[in-house]
Amino acid sequence: MIGVLASGAGTNLQALLDAGLPVVAVASNRRDATALTRAGNIATAAFELTEYSNRDERDTAMADWLEEHGVTLVVLAGYMHLLTSAFLDRFPNAVVNVHPSLLPEFPGAHAVEEQLTAGIAESGATVHLVDEGVDSGPILAQERVPVLSGDTPETLHARIKDIEHRLLPRIVEELCAR
Ligand code: GRF
Repeated sequence: MIGVLASGAGTNLQALLDAGLPVVAVASNRRDATALTRAGNIATAAFELTEYSNRDERDTAMADWLEEHGVTLVVLAGYMHLLTSAFLDRFPNAVVNVHPSLLPEFPGAHAVEEQLTAGIAESGATVHLVDEGVDSGPILAQERVPVLSGDTPETLHARIKDIEHRLLPRIVEELCAR
């Protein structure tokens, strides 16, 4: 059973839902995240950092809530906070992330802009297991897209997201079957 963490638009969450995957809980670090509105009848919750005394406490509360909903696999779909070991130790080898670059190149929150600034010819999407680093866990799958002349952060990110929306559900389905 899948729990999704998202901070923003939630198009990757939508792809998981459209693929019919067993998403049972959606959590965010932002109460106003659009992703939460995509969840329909699925349980949602916000865990805003300002409401806890530290990250460990917030991450423990979030892990407790996901476990209460029967979650055994956690998917980060545009979740913009690092997770502490207080969270990761609760779901060993069962937290995956999708990132808009060919990792280990261009980790971090500004990957799309940084790839355009660097002038690279090829970008892509990566699905990887999550550790405490920034986009640094073992890579599970990658797919490439060209960077076109005249690309803006928006056009490049849209091309990458098209790939993410196919790649992420496929890998999550494989993880569910293991
Ligand atoms: C995606 O590009 C994902 O790779 C990155 O954040 C973005 C989230 O987009 N980690 P969305 O909220 O799923 O639309």
